[in-house]
Amino acid sequence: MFVGGTDVRPLHVPPNCQNEFCPLCHARLLSNHEWNAVGTLRGDNLLIEAFFETAAPRAADFVLVLEIGMGIGLLVGARLARKGRFRQHAWCQSAIVLLNLAVVAVTMIPSFRVHVLPRVPAKLGKAYYGLATTHAAFGTVTELAGLYILLSAGTTVLPERLRITKYKTWMRSVLVLWWVVLLLGIATYARWYVPHLFRK
Ligand code: HEM
Repeated sequence: MFVGGTDVRPLHVPPNCQNEFCPLCHARLLSNHEWNAVGTLRGDNLLIEAFFETAAPRAADFVLVLEIGMGIGLLVGARLARKGRFRQHAWCQSAIVLLNLAVVAVTMIPSFRVHVLPRVPAKLGKAYYGLATTHAAFGTVTELAGLYILLSAGTTVLPERLRITKYKTWMRSVLVLWWVVLLLGIATYARWYVPHLFRK
């Protein structure tokens, strides 16, 4: 869809989608005259100029803020351990790992299956799919590693020989990985929903 010579199709629409009512997308695509009306009413470059105006659905905005909060929460939890407050540390990190598991299961995995998986591996070279797939792969490893620490340290469900011995190394590695995944998630959000970062 072109308005004033610029393609203003929302970024969360997969690049090759042509449907006006796309079953793969979060939002209905606007028809030509609707896009023209938007362009006339709001100025062609408004979306491109307003930094915080994104094409993201509210759920994605909410998840973005929640995930940043959880990333900061893990740093706070790590500090609790450094201060020797291990009980609070354990509660804090466990709650975040479990809350994240729920967020990933309810929002990210369904989105990945609909928007990304059908185009993998054919379109992995495109940032839209490549970023999301790298994020999902690292995210899966990180969440599983977080759950493994939680089960090893906080429960007795794992047999002795499967439990972690080098807790510090595991916890530090997962914290670093978590932030890498978080940054990849933010990059995915930016590629999918923030038009002016990627439009020429
Ligand atoms: C530690 C684990 C993870 C963290 C911290 C994380 C963080 C984030 C963040 C901050 C966003 C941007 C907000 C949004 O667009 O909704 C995002 C989006 C996304 N993530 Fe994750 N994520 C994790 C795991 C995963 C996993 C395991 C998958 C898939 C198997 C995944 C797939 C996606 C997809 C497809 C999106 C775009 C969702 C959409 O906007 O429709 N993520 N993630």
